[in-house]
Amino acid sequence: MTTAAKPKGGLEDTVATSSAICYLDGDRGVLSYCGYDIHDLARHATFEEVCYLLWHRRLPTRGELGDLQAQLVASRPLPEPVLRLMRALPPGDGMDTLRTLTSALSHYDADTADHSVQANYRKAVRLTAQIGSIVATIGRMNSGGGPMQPDPVLGHAANFLYMLTGEKPSEHHAKVFDVALVLHADHEFNASTFAARVVAGTLATMYAGVAAAIAALSGPLHGGANTAVMRTLLEIGEVDNVDSYIKKALSEKRKIMGFGHAVYRTEDPRATHLRKFSKEMGELAGDTKWYEISRKVEEVMQREKGLYPNVDFFSASTYYMMGIPLDLYTPIFAVSRISGWTGHILEQYADNKLIRPRAEYVGKRDVPYVPIDQR
Ligand code: COA
Repeated sequence: MTTAAKPKGGLEDTVATSSAICYLDGDRGVLSYCGYDIHDLARHATFEEVCYLLWHRRLPTRGELGDLQAQLVASRPLPEPVLRLMRALPPGDGMDTLRTLTSALSHYDADTADHSVQANYRKAVRLTAQIGSIVATIGRMNSGGGPMQPDPVLGHAANFLYMLTGEKPSEHHAKVFDVALVLHADHEFNASTFAARVVAGTLATMYAGVAAAIAALSGPLHGGANTAVMRTLLEIGEVDNVDSYIKKALSEKRKIMGFGHAVYRTEDPRATHLRKFSKEMGELAGDTKWYEISRKVEEVMQREKGLYPNVDFFSASTYYMMGIPLDLYTPIFAVSRISGWTGHILEQYADNKLIRPRAEYVGKRDVPYVPIDQR
C-alpha cells in the first residue's frame, strides 16, 4: 500500500468516522455526551437519563424517562437457561463470564436477528438491563449467595447494588454508584467502542458487537486498569511506602495503572468527581487510608512523570470503600459502558459503512516459493 502519511501507532489521533454522541478535548479536559458537559450530567442526570440521551441524542421528557425506566425494569430478569449456564461455568475471570453470558443472551432474544430500528432499540434496552443483572449475579454467586430477583421499585444503580449484596443500598451509596455509571457511560472511540462499531459495521448483530466490546474492555490497558489500581494500592499498603514504591516501579519501566491517557493531556474530568467520591466513601466507612494513599500516588506521579489520574484511578478506592469485590470493577465498567456501546452501534447501523482500513505493508516482497523438502 502506498500512503502519503505514515500511520501513527495505535491509530492515535486518527479520525475514523464522524459521530454525534461524544465530544472529547484532551488538551482542555472536556468531555460531553451529545453536547451536555460531563460535569453537568454528573451533578444532575441519572444513568437512565444518560442512556436515553446516548440512544436518542436528546434528554427525555418525564414521560419518556418513565417509559424507559419501565422497559429497563421489565428486562432485568435473566432467562433461566442463562442463569443455569452461569452456575455451570467453572470459576474464572468475571469479564470472561460476562462475555460468554452476553453471547448466550442472544439465543433467548426473539429480536436478535431483527435489524429494524425498533428491534435494535429494544435490544439496547434489554442488554443494558441484563448486563447489570449478570454482573450483580456474578458478584453475588462469587460471594456464595444465590441470585437475587431484581427490585422493580429501585433505579438501575440501586437495583444493581441490591442484586449484588442482597441489601437495599443507602441513598448516598446508590447516588454515588449512579454518578459513577454516568461518568463511565461513553468515551468516544475508545478501544471497546471501536471494536463494537467494527463488528456492527459488518451488519453482525448487536449482541455480537457487544461481545466484542466486552472482550476489548477486559484488557489491563483499558477497563482492566481499575482492578489493577486497587491491587497496586493494596500492595503499597501505607502512605509512607508510596514514594519508594512508585519510584522503584518507574525505574523498572513499569506502568502505574490508572495514570496517563491516550487522549487527555490534562486531568481526566471524570477523575475530578471520582476523587471526591473516594474521599466521601472513605469518610463514611471510617477509613480514608486508601484515599490518602491514592492522593500521595497522584502527587508522586505528577512530580515524577507529569501524568494525571484517569477514570480508573479513583474509581478503584471508591468501589473498595463501597465494599464491592475487586474482581467486579471491570465488569462494572461494562454495566455502564453498555449504554455507550449500544448508542454507537445504533449510530453505526443508521449510516453503515464496512470499517476496513488498510495496513502499511513492511514485510518482504517477491520471495520465490521453496518446496518444503528444500527448506
Ligand atoms: N505509568 C508510568 N508511565 C506511563 C504511564 C503510566 N501509567 N502512562 C504513560 N506512561 C509513560 C510511558 O512510559 C511513556 O514514557 P516514555 O516516553 O518515557 O517512554 C509516556 O508516558 C507515553 O506513554 P504511552 O504509553 O505512549 O502513552 P499513551 O498516551 O499512548 O497511552 C495509556 C495511554 C492509557 C495506554 C497509558 O497511559 C497506560 O498504559 N496507562 C496505564 C493503564 C491505564 O490506566 N489504562 C486506563 C486508561 S483510561
